[in-house]
Amino acid sequence: MAADRSPVWPQGYVGSITHTDDLLGVAVARRKDFRSIGIDAEAIIQPETTAEIDELCMSERERSLRDSVEIDHQTFSSLCFSAKESFFKCLYPLTGVWFDFQDAEIASFDPDLQLLQMRLLRDLASGFRQGQVFGGAFRCTERRVYTAFALPA
Ligand SMILES: CC(C)(COP(=O)(O)OP(=O)(O)OC[C@H]1O[C@@H](n2cnc3c(N)ncnc32)[C@H](O)[C@@H]1OP(=O)(O)O)[C@@H](O)C(=O)NCCC(=O)NCCS
Repeated sequence: MAADRSPVWPQGYVGSITHTDDLLGVAVARRKDFRSIGIDAEAIIQPETTAEIDELCMSERERSLRDSVEIDHQTFSSLCFSAKESFFKCLYPLTGVWFDFQDAEIASFDPDLQLLQMRLLRDLASGFRQGQVFGGAFRCTERRVYTAFALPA
């Protein structure tokens, strides 16, 4: 673990770690195949904390997106939170720049293909620019959501 808590992988590898109360997930790849990976798993948030999570991580545009797709509120809120965490874990090791939930937004969300896009809303180091869009994947079960981003080499 580095001083900033990001994982330190052996030379030539990239990866990401996530925990929930009863699950540990790790994804690792060769750097020649992927520049970076970010994964996240979260328990589906409880109804009583949904408003708080929405306040923390969801923009007005994301609320409109949520209302336009066939998905229940808690699952979408959990996915929004998780996708921003996995997106952060993917970009941070490349940029070394900490950024906030308001600095990215879900640009598109396809519940059938279980794919989403995340739009970066600010410039970061290493050539990552405001407006750039990144493809991510998600899965949902009754208990949890899972999200992942991977940048090809
Ligand atoms: C670092 C952070 C993303 C961890 O997420 P989390 O959901 O709380 O916890 P998870 O169990 O899923 O992930 C923990 C793992 O993240 C990894 N991690 C920690 N800091 C990291 C960083 N800066 N970059 C990449 N990975 C990091 C570690 O491997 C850690 O595992 P470990 O505790 O075994 O060492 C989160 O705590 C955080 O600081 N978020 C604020 C920044 C953010 O998400 N912004 C949103 C941008 S849209």
